Amino acid sequence: MTHSTASPATGGEWWRNAAVYQIYIRSFADGNGDGVGDVAGLRARLPYLRDLGVDAVWINPWYESPMADGGYDVADFRRIDPVLGTGEEGAAFVAEAHEHGLRVILDIVPNHVSDRHAWFRAALASGPGSPERERFLFRDGRGPGGDEPPNGWRAAFGGPAWTRTTDPDGTPGQWYLHLFAPEQPDLNWDHPQVRAEFESILRFWFDQGVDGFRIDVAHGLVKHPDLPDFAVHEHDQHLTADGGEHPHADRDGVHDIYRAWRAIADEYEGDRVFAAEAWVSDPARLARYLRPDELHTAFNFHYLEAPWRAKAMRAAIDDSFAALGPIGAPATWVLSNHDVVRHVSRFGRPGHAQGKSLGMVRDTPVDLELGTRRARAAALLTLGLPGSAYLYQGEELGLWEVEDLPPEVLQDPTWERSGHTDPGRDGCRVPLPWSGQEPPFGFGGARPWLPQPAAWRDLTVEHEDARPDSMLNLYRAALRIRRTEPGLAGAEMAWVDAPEGVLAFERGDGVRCVVNFADEPHPLPEGAEVLLSSAPVEGGRLPGDAAVWLRLR
Ligand code: GLC
Repeated sequence: MTHSTASPATGGEWWRNAAVYQIYIRSFADGNGDGVGDVAGLRARLPYLRDLGVDAVWINPWYESPMADGGYDVADFRRIDPVLGTGEEGAAFVAEAHEHGLRVILDIVPNHVSDRHAWFRAALASGPGSPERERFLFRDGRGPGGDEPPNGWRAAFGGPAWTRTTDPDGTPGQWYLHLFAPEQPDLNWDHPQVRAEFESILRFWFDQGVDGFRIDVAHGLVKHPDLPDFAVHEHDQHLTADGGEHPHADRDGVHDIYRAWRAIADEYEGDRVFAAEAWVSDPARLARYLRPDELHTAFNFHYLEAPWRAKAMRAAIDDSFAALGPIGAPATWVLSNHDVVRHVSRFGRPGHAQGKSLGMVRDTPVDLELGTRRARAAALLTLGLPGSAYLYQGEELGLWEVEDLPPEVLQDPTWERSGHTDPGRDGCRVPLPWSGQEPPFGFGGARPWLPQPAAWRDLTVEHEDARPDSMLNLYRAALRIRRTEPGLAGAEMAWVDAPEGVLAFERGDGVRCVVNFADEPHPLPEGAEVLLSSAPVEGGRLPGDAAVWLRLR
């Protein structure tokens, strides 16, 4: 079977096969020594990213924020948070990134704002029925005295999706909707001012040369006007799409918003792009976000969620191509991000225990050596597929999830909101180890905002740089070959017959990628040249949990 995602990228349309590096800025590099990563640290490390060989960076929200949800609670979209830097530093960063040949993607958060945002403060101050409240979703409570929330919707971090306000005279007032933390009130996207404001924010950053946006909770903006109750499993509620009928996920109305945004991006020079964070389970529904007049790419969470098994991985790949091929949108591949357990720690759980959150997996013992071996293979699978690839900072070092952070340092609202049953996402957000023998491992500052494990001394950039067989050097080699090997440039792939437990596919020019998920070594075609392998190929056989890129003669 041959898959084609689109015509090969010519000079423009860089996003069709870009390798994009995700920067969780608070944990990347600390330039001013306060223990929190910042724009200064990022600027100083630009040469590292250039040498790694990625095409673009996506930066998690750097806007002014009280940090109730790691910056996804934005108080002012036009200002960089003072803890992270200044507007001048931001502009200098964008210019320098471009000089290094890197594009810059910011993170836009349109579903909600911070409860400290000027609009929400005005809404609280102005009271029920005021125009200020119309920009949010305020409702009277149900039951006697309005004591019960307006509906039974649940928040993503646990608990009800509604919080009651207190009126200026001290009496209990209306409730407001927040699909995430109470500090993140949802905006009312039926309000023209909300639409106009976000279009203006996009222009503000596009005018500064930013190359695109990752759209947070892209599926969630539009709500059913009646806010009706619905029956759904708590864990599933943000992932469910019922043909546009879910009251707050993947409603058909979101597409108008993205058509308007696309028109704005298209006014600018140089291929400005959008990448949707849309948790939509049906690939055909997800493809609707990528119609030619809408967004450019969307994260492929089916691939991220697939267990380390040949069949499951192949199904995720096939489903993605099947949905995207007909509309000419490129596939994207992602293994980790700032919201999920790092993939070394997912793939290192024997029995293929999966689950995105630490709360779901932490009772299953983890084998980090196995996880690392599989992560090396997964890197060659991911970077060997046509389409664009997203790398999460630290995966190129083989970082694992820090599962034993002491409760007192946890900041993810999931910890509190789950009643201390799920530690949340801080374990994948621990500051990067750059150099040296002990924490803070060259991150900067005396004490990083989350403590790094002592064992990361073997995973620093400095340490791995010096070892030809390190994860870092595997990623560097893979990214270099991906750029220079004409066989990997096209948008096509074709599966090659392989025994159970093995996936093999060919790209152009006789380049073949083989991944062995089984335990038994797999014989490779005779005379093939090994371009790159995740584990040593001995006697022409690819060991288990390993991958190789070959050139066939
Ligand atoms: C997205 C972000 C996540 C954030 C949530 C609310 O899922 O990736 O980090 O908590 O949106 O903004």
